[in-house]
Amino acid sequence: MDKDDQIDSAQQAAPILEALRAYIADGAVAFHTPGHKQGKGIPEIFRDIVTTTGLRMDVSLMEELDDLHEPTMCIKAAQDLAAALYGADAAYFVINGTTAAIQAMILAAVNPGEKIIVPRNAHRSIIGGIMLSGAQPVFVQPEIDQELGIAMGLSIEAIQRALEENLDAKAVLVINPTYYGVASDLKTIAGLVHAKNMLLLVDEAHGPHLKFSPELPLSAMDAGADLAAQSTHKIIGSLTQTSMLQARYGRIDPERLRMMLSLVQSTSPNYLLLASLDAARWQMATQGQSLIGKAVQLAQKLRQAINTIGGLYCFGEDRLQSAGAFALDATKLTVTVSGLGLTGPEAEQILRHEYKIQCELSDRNNVLFILSLADTEKEAALLLGALRQMAAQRGKHAPLAPARALPAIPRQRLLPRAALFSETEKHDFRQSDGCIAAEVITFYPPGIPILCPGEIITREIIGYALAMQQVGLKVVGPADASLNTIKVVKQ
Ligand SMILES: Cc1ncc(COP(=O)(O)O)c(C=O)c1O
Repeated sequence: MDKDDQIDSAQQAAPILEALRAYIADGAVAFHTPGHKQGKGIPEIFRDIVTTTGLRMDVSLMEELDDLHEPTMCIKAAQDLAAALYGADAAYFVINGTTAAIQAMILAAVNPGEKIIVPRNAHRSIIGGIMLSGAQPVFVQPEIDQELGIAMGLSIEAIQRALEENLDAKAVLVINPTYYGVASDLKTIAGLVHAKNMLLLVDEAHGPHLKFSPELPLSAMDAGADLAAQSTHKIIGSLTQTSMLQARYGRIDPERLRMMLSLVQSTSPNYLLLASLDAARWQMATQGQSLIGKAVQLAQKLRQAINTIGGLYCFGEDRLQSAGAFALDATKLTVTVSGLGLTGPEAEQILRHEYKIQCELSDRNNVLFILSLADTEKEAALLLGALRQMAAQRGKHAPLAPARALPAIPRQRLLPRAALFSETEKHDFRQSDGCIAAEVITFYPPGIPILCPGEIITREIIGYALAMQQVGLKVVGPADASLNTIKVVKQ
């Protein structure tokens, strides 16, 4: 019997969707927000974008539709089903993206001035959460695969060192899996972190599907994390901007978590978004094992086929020997195109404009494709055909030189929050040695910041940045992308 057939019958329900259906069936005359009044006043140019039923369901704040901020009815029932499915004590629906889930997670875990251990390649939402909370980040450098030019996970040794050197830290936040699908040994990390009485928070933006295939890395809740922020919208079936925050109680204060979620979420949640989260949970509960299982198989087959194309390489389990790579999400296909003498962005342009293939992202050496439950043999064949033709047209070239070693993480003079609220000025970048940075500067690859707000700029960092600019690497973060000037804290 398929595992999907063994699911708890309670999971067949979709409480938010059902409450919405009941509300519109009741036919109450709308003297309430939103102003378009269930579609009647929607601008003509938008009318056929959302179905008539969808527009009628765009309502909010009715008593029978519950309250996202203090749920007791359909939202509570839907969240409880999600928690049961993911093996969490509680699940919270988030309609402001995983960004909001991560911000709430950090705000719930650390007080101003307290330390939180985070990977240096933290997504901007983590840096944002640290700025909002006033916490002190302790950055840990992730492992870097020099050949591919991408950041992997954190090694156990790097986490152990950070824990020993920061016994006063309150929490450790890890990205698991990474954008490229690389997972760390989360279970071991959870044991180490909890042994020091710290909290384990997981940015699981790229992992809401992990639970549904034994071939995928362990999910955060199964590994023993305290909190995990998942982008339901990125990987499974809900609408963009919808995420979940999974919680295991014991070390986390539920009341504080709820308060922090309220702080970063709208008081007028969009019910289509909430219902889509409810439906995505229903889909995973009823068909998750088969849908995700199929996506994994399709991706594995595609990976094998891509690796037969001369000049292309799609890494797989062969890359798992490195310290920061314990397991792999096979549905992420990172295709290294440097063997064709192309950069990732060049290959992205060719695929988009000559073959109508849109990737998820590209970096200097690679193009990342996401395969999901929505894909079939047809899409896989289209991608494979396009890659084959592109490779045939290019021929083989020498791969690009590996990236230069990153400069050391600089000393932190101000907390990121203090730097954010400081008076700043533009400074000649070449002469900025000793100044305090007021912006993030990251080069791709490997997408790891060389400077974060509050850190002291060093000669080594200036030299590295100028060298990276000379070889044409893309810089992200500074207001002046030419890096003639840098925003620094006025002293
Ligand atoms: C690793 C990681 N964390 C967090 C986020 C933020 O998620 P969202 O776009 O849902 O706010 C992203 C988005 O790309 C991400 O890649």
